[in-house]
Amino acid sequence: MYKVKTVTPERLPTLLQGMPKAELHIHIEGSLEPELMFTLAKRNGLTVPYPDVETLRNAYVFDNLQEFLDVYHQGTQVLKTEQDFYDMTLAYLQRAKADNVLHTEIFFDTQTHTGHGLSSDVVINGLHRACVDARGQLGISASLILCFLRHLSETEAFEALEQALPHRDKLVGVGLASSELGHPPEKFAKVFAKARSLGFRLVAHAGEEGPPAYIWSALDVLKVERIDHGVQATKDAALVARLVHDKIPLTVCPLSNLKLRVFPNLAQHNLGQMLDSGLLATVNSDDPAYFGGYINENFTATFSKLGLTSTDAYQLAHNSFEASFIDSAARRALQDRLSEFFETFD
Ligand code: ADE
Ligand code: ZN
Repeated sequence: MYKVKTVTPERLPTLLQGMPKAELHIHIEGSLEPELMFTLAKRNGLTVPYPDVETLRNAYVFDNLQEFLDVYHQGTQVLKTEQDFYDMTLAYLQRAKADNVLHTEIFFDTQTHTGHGLSSDVVINGLHRACVDARGQLGISASLILCFLRHLSETEAFEALEQALPHRDKLVGVGLASSELGHPPEKFAKVFAKARSLGFRLVAHAGEEGPPAYIWSALDVLKVERIDHGVQATKDAALVARLVHDKIPLTVCPLSNLKLRVFPNLAQHNLGQMLDSGLLATVNSDDPAYFGGYINENFTATFSKLGLTSTDAYQLAHNSFEASFIDSAARRALQDRLSEFFETFD
């Protein structure tokens, strides 16, 4: 492993801010800031059921995943046109760029929006156009992952996949999101097998609130290549050994875990334990508009509470490129930029 020079605790936030990184777990609908929500509502002749931005933001207090999902779903109702999806996505990409994210893999779902009467085409075209423009204007690469909603049926997931297929070349993979408890991965065995046969890369949320058994079945039944969250894995030593052995990345989202009460406080988060076990963990923002921070706030808050070091920072950023679905030449180029950053940082 590359020898990382020691950085004082005072300089650590600057290191974390400046280091090149990839973000692999961000729901684009969860990046919709209250300001833009009000703007889009006005543009579309709708009303947000809160008097102002501040009152809305103050309502973002959750006891668990489901409470959050209900509020998040309400927020998506202002999205109506391709331009709305474009504006939301470009705003996230600009924010990610400011955090020195060089590559991002963005989750979205179409089922929420088709449930509101929109077509999948509107959603995917808006997101994709923003990704293309961001590459040209910001120099950030972005790809798209279609998430199936696990509280709905597998038949409905098949419909979502079918509707997305005319846009196959705009998508890198499929994932599984929404209410975890009671909706184990194996419910989606057939649709994941179909997506796999079509060449989609596969990921799934597992072990956020759900048990280690859901991580096992995401791996063994769905055959996913990355686990989203996966923080419950540390309850099962055999599972940790499997994840380490197979180098399965975990896209961890510390502020999300804090806001959804997966951990009572950040000092008790298991990110440090995961790194010590040799797990290929990464740091991500999940739904930054709702959870109080983008990727760099996830890094700085967690590092300060867990006493993590510059070596951990390098490892996490290196892991983020390692875990990404970019080709090996691009990966090497990004990891070289990371090493160069650490060598010249003082
Ligand atoms: N959709 C948006 N954020 C999510 C999360 N943290 N878990 C599951 N589904 C989600
Ligand atoms: Zn998520």
